[in-house]
Amino acid sequence: MRIDILTIFPEMFTGVFSESIIKRAMENKKVQINLINFRDYTNDPHNKVDDTPYGGGAGMVLMPQPIFDCVKSIRTAEAKVILLTPSGKVYNQRMAYDLSNEKHLIIICGHYEGFDERIKSICDLELSIGDYVLTGGEIPAMVLVDSITRLLDGVIRDESHINDSFNNNLLDYPTYTKPRVYEGMEVPEVLLSGDHKKIEEYRHNEQIRITKENRPDLLDK
Ligand code: ADE
Repeated sequence: MRIDILTIFPEMFTGVFSESIIKRAMENKKVQINLINFRDYTNDPHNKVDDTPYGGGAGMVLMPQPIFDCVKSIRTAEAKVILLTPSGKVYNQRMAYDLSNEKHLIIICGHYEGFDERIKSICDLELSIGDYVLTGGEIPAMVLVDSITRLLDGVIRDESHINDSFNNNLLDYPTYTKPRVYEGMEVPEVLLSGDHKKIEEYRHNEQIRITKENRPDLLDK
């Protein structure tokens, strides 16, 4: 998969993409991530990418020209263009699965007070990572890339995401490792029994219990 990230702060990504699973996925050519500074595409003599809003209001607004020209120059026939904004549809695991089947994603990080509305005309999808406002789309872009990359074939073992929280609208079951007793707290007996049917049953019941407790809204779905 190819992912192009349009941002005026490409350095924000370097730490996140140079460690752990994303780093390995890039090295193994499972994903190619390109950080593109759309300031490089501005026609403004002072390299501006933003301006004051028509009609007044606080802050600066991203201008359409640099982003339009940047997307035009990198777009492929199969590209899906995603705009990150708190006004988008709320991102979830289902969308991560769907996007992991795409060949080419172009992710646009908004910044400042917002972006010119006409930028939406070149986007296929507007996404928010949750009901809170961040300073820009860079952290949301990292969230998308991380959640999608781990689902790509050969990045992590399939079993590792089959039981992920949110698959089947249930949260994950609890896991334990050694030691068997820690500060008086014991590993549930069933996990030591070797009875796989019982273990499966215990884990499923725990998923329901935890989902009821923390996310009852998921059970209604
Ligand atoms: N930009 C600022 N806040 C955001 C959010 N919650 N999701 C996506 N992009 C954003």
